[in-house]
Amino acid sequence: MAEPDRLPYEGPLPGADAVGESGSMSAGPGVRISFRIDDEARIAAAAFETASLDGARIVASKLCGAVLGATVFQASAVSIPDLALMAGLPLRDPAVRIVHFAKSAAMLPHLGRAAIAGPGITCTCFRVATATIVAAIERMGLRTADQVKDATNAGSGCGSCRPQVEGLIKQHARRD
Ligand code: FES
Repeated sequence: MAEPDRLPYEGPLPGADAVGESGSMSAGPGVRISFRIDDEARIAAAAFETASLDGARIVASKLCGAVLGATVFQASAVSIPDLALMAGLPLRDPAVRIVHFAKSAAMLPHLGRAAIAGPGITCTCFRVATATIVAAIERMGLRTADQVKDATNAGSGCGSCRPQVEGLIKQHARRD
C-alpha cells in the first residue's frame, strides 16, 4: 500500500523536550506529539507521529501548526473544542480526543496539572471553569462526579480532572 503523503509537522522530532503519547505507538492505534521548548518557554518546534491512526493526522498537524511559537501555557490551554474546530471534526471524534490526550501528556511534566488547567479551570479537556462546576454542584444539588460530567462536560475527556471534581463535590455538595 502506498505511504500517504506527509502532512506538515509529520515525523519524529530529534531533541524534543516534551513528548506525549496516547494509545499505543508500538501496536497502534496511537499518537505521539513532540515539542522543543526554548529558554522562554515557547514552543520552538512541534511534530507528530501516528501508528495505525490516519484520522488523527490532520488533527495533530493542525495542533502543531497552531502552537508553534506559543508559550507552553498557551499550548496547554488548547482544548478539545479548539482542536475539533481547527480540524473541522465533531467534538466527540475519537481522533480529536487522542491528539488532545497526547498533547496533555507532553505538557504535564512541564507544567503540572494546576498549571495546565490554569487557576480558574478544573477540566482542561473542555475548559470547564472551577466556578461553573461549583455553581452546578450547589444549584443542581449534584453529588457524584458522573452527575457533574453530565451537567458540565467536566471529566468526560481524559478523566484526569476527576479527583479535582470529587474534591469540589466534597467541599460544595449540599448536605440536606
Ligand atoms: S481534564 Fe480531561 S476530562 Fe477533564
